[in-house]
Amino acid sequence: MKAVVVTQYGSPDVLQVRDVPKPAPKDNEVQIKIHATSVGYGDIICRNFSHISPREFNMPFLFWIMARLAFGFRTPKKQILGAEFAGEVESIGKVVTRFKIGDPVFGFRGAGFGANAEYLCMPEDGLVALKPANMTYEAAATVPYGALTALNLLRKVNIQPGQTVLINGASGGIGSAAVQLVKHFGAQVTGVCSTPGMAYVKALGADKVIDYTHEDFTKQADTYDLIFDILGKGSFAQAKRVLKSNGRYLFASFKMKQLFQMLWTSRIGSKRVICALSMEKPEDLILIKGLVEAGKITAIIDRCYPLEQTAEAHRYVEKGRKTGSVVITIAHPL
Ligand SMILES: NC(=O)c1ccc[n+]([C@@H]2O[C@H](COP(=O)([O-])OP(=O)(O)OC[C@H]3O[C@@H](n4cnc5c(N)ncnc54)[C@H](OP(=O)(O)O)[C@@H]3O)[C@@H](O)[C@H]2O)c1
Repeated sequence: MKAVVVTQYGSPDVLQVRDVPKPAPKDNEVQIKIHATSVGYGDIICRNFSHISPREFNMPFLFWIMARLAFGFRTPKKQILGAEFAGEVESIGKVVTRFKIGDPVFGFRGAGFGANAEYLCMPEDGLVALKPANMTYEAAATVPYGALTALNLLRKVNIQPGQTVLINGASGGIGSAAVQLVKHFGAQVTGVCSTPGMAYVKALGADKVIDYTHEDFTKQADTYDLIFDILGKGSFAQAKRVLKSNGRYLFASFKMKQLFQMLWTSRIGSKRVICALSMEKPEDLILIKGLVEAGKITAIIDRCYPLEQTAEAHRYVEKGRKTGSVVITIAHPL
């Protein structure tokens, strides 16, 4: 089968289309013929990991070491990138009961990657579910990462209808799903991103959008019950004045400083810092499928590239100017 293979860390030029063995399903696995996959934050980082210093990595040093071990110190252990996928079940292992041949499915590989390929295998009890009936394969391939992560992190803060929520990093993979989930929970959403993403965040349902290149949300009059900071670009110390009493500052990306703030604010004061890790479960993906079918989560695609142009797709995402998701489509020979 064809796959995009990366054998050394570096620029998008390291991504090469090659023929590799087609994976065969184990007894408990489904083999999926992939129609679409995506390019997101994780793909860019993993392709270039030897050039990401602990300082540039948005998590504590220990996580950087763990990621470096998992991804490979000198050369990439994950030779096929792609964390999200949508496709059809091509064959099933002997004991599979949840899926049948021909089922349209979507799913998430997480740090396992492997979806920039014509086929992959997933355990039937892994992060794979029937594709939302109202979505194309292209759209469905952009949903799992952001929606699973945002859902898991937002569960830590139990949003109530009528609350006010600011999402710092609203135009990215996690932020775009968070905007929609927070609206679904009945809260008012303010999204923060740079100029090109503003219309996109508005289209996702944000009540207000702030351009961080022109305005500092910590200096405005509006106040929030929750600030959800995706890249950890904001500062709790500065944002405190726009957090309501009992307000929470939720970090998806954090360093030791924010972990100490979490400890400190759990004991002192009414405003709290929360640093959280997402632990996705297969039932979450089924819940997300339902939210998509109910029209609560949608996908806005910026660009589609064929598998052969995955390097181009990486170049585009790396520019940081995407306004929606970037999809890789896979055409299978008849
Ligand atoms: N806690 C967890 O379990 C968990 C799980 C997965 C990922 N993560 C973390 O999530 C992060 C990746 O999130 P993602 O995939 O959503 O990234 P992404 O798709 O690259 O999106 C990043 C977002 O941040 C915005 N942004 C960039 N610079 C900013 C600034 N100075 N101020 C405010 N916003 C800014 C971007 O807006 P513009 O494009 O308009 O600049 C964009 O909306 C990583 O740091 C990763 O470590 C955490």
